[in-house]
Amino acid sequence: MSALFSPYTLKGVTLRNRIAMSPMTMYRSVDGKANDFHVMLLGSRAAGGFGLVFPEQIAILPEGRTSVGCGGLYDDAQIESWKRCTDLIKDMGAVPAIQLGHTGRKGSEVKPWEGGQQLPPDHPDGWQVVGPSALPYGGKYQYPVHALTREEIKAIHRAYADAARRAVDAGFEWLELHFAHGYLGASFFSPLANQRSDEYGGSLEGRARYHLEAIDAVRAVWPERFPLTMRLGSDDLNERGVQFDESIIAVGWMKEHGLDLADLSLGINTDEMRDKPFDELGFMLARAERLRREVGMPVATSWNLGIPALAERIVRDQLVDVVMLGRPALSNPHWPVWAARELEHDDPFALVPEDWAWWLRNFRAHPSCIGWPDPAPVDVDAALRATA
Ligand SMILES: Cc1cc2nc3c(=O)[nH]c(=O)nc-3n(C[C@H](O)[C@H](O)[C@H](O)COP(=O)(O)O)c2cc1C
Repeated sequence: MSALFSPYTLKGVTLRNRIAMSPMTMYRSVDGKANDFHVMLLGSRAAGGFGLVFPEQIAILPEGRTSVGCGGLYDDAQIESWKRCTDLIKDMGAVPAIQLGHTGRKGSEVKPWEGGQQLPPDHPDGWQVVGPSALPYGGKYQYPVHALTREEIKAIHRAYADAARRAVDAGFEWLELHFAHGYLGASFFSPLANQRSDEYGGSLEGRARYHLEAIDAVRAVWPERFPLTMRLGSDDLNERGVQFDESIIAVGWMKEHGLDLADLSLGINTDEMRDKPFDELGFMLARAERLRREVGMPVATSWNLGIPALAERIVRDQLVDVVMLGRPALSNPHWPVWAARELEHDDPFALVPEDWAWWLRNFRAHPSCIGWPDPAPVDVDAALRATA
């Protein structure tokens, strides 16, 4: 029995397998709403066998978006559009998940393929970016950062709760808070971005207060039966930034506040990282395994895990509970079906809708013409000669 394809229950939610489509920003929304593009993107991954399907980070406030084209749930008018996606995801047998977040000082951005630069606050598609302190990230993020007041932080926590309430109405059943990748949660956690002298800065306790209050605000409105998770910038790979040992302690506190699973990633609060492991296989795995063991909490992680045998092994060896796939989910909507076949699953087609599965099982084809790489490639010249 494959570990990767074993069901996974967290709170009242059961995933059909351990494979999640990781959140990925798509710059395709208008007014923060989902549209046909999102229905296509998410529906096809659910039909392709993913157990858990995330859209991109969904912003809790308009100025919490990465760009004007990013999704949001800061307005009731956005609920129905996301419900179209969650209805289809459920219909295809997967669980719809949402990642709520605020891009903070990295927001007000142009699409990467149109330059990716940050826009000034007075640009029609830009806005005043915010952070824990008035410190721009640097590089392309050059515009002044407004340091949030205590009252503004409280308003952001109310916005988390309002967005979580809308997420319930939109049909999501798994909620992740985005505290990684240099966005607002990551900025509060990191001394590289947070130089506050009030109760939201300084010590580890101060730098984790933003997160604990966000978890409290969301937990109060998010149903107990649905998992509440977060993605943490658990290491800045910089001696002046977040150290992984601190993350272990902070996640322990988050667990006490009702967090159900930790999805580990990097801080990316600076470009000055002591090493840039981005092309290394599974570089978050050792941290994930350690946190899982020391905090006693389920974990997920992403980053270069898209090899079926590797994904299988890390679940079987209990390094992680859920495998998050980003780029593999973009390049292959049927990644789980392919992985099931590679791992000699009894019935890989059980992962696709029965409308296709029945035909794939019963309508006999040449074994090399079913739509995936054949381990024993056909000699095409010989095959064509035989047909002549
Ligand atoms: C196009 C793109 C957009 C992304 N947007 C988000 C996002 O909205 N939220 C987030 O937490 N991570 C985001 N990520 C990171 C992915 O979720 C994932 O963690 C990362 O790509 C590593 O996993 P992979 O090696 O399987 O691609 C994005 C990645 C890509 C490629």
